[in-house]
Amino acid sequence: MYVCICNALKHGQLSAAASDPQVESVPQLFQSCGARPRCGRCLDDMADLMTAVRQPQSAALAAE
Ligand code: FES
Repeated sequence: MYVCICNALKHGQLSAAASDPQVESVPQLFQSCGARPRCGRCLDDMADLMTAVRQPQSAALAAE
């Protein structure tokens, strides 16, 4: 499923990129995919995707 139509970025590609701990923001997520924001319609979805990918890591760290 495409999350960013302008850059043809799919959910799986973005999830993999967002799991990199060095990717800390939506602009960095675009950059890691070799893209940049264009229309901006996907920005909220990109932020939600980053939160969803990182929640299991946060929960695991909190349990330690
Ligand atoms: S849909 Fe992502 S920048 Fe347009």
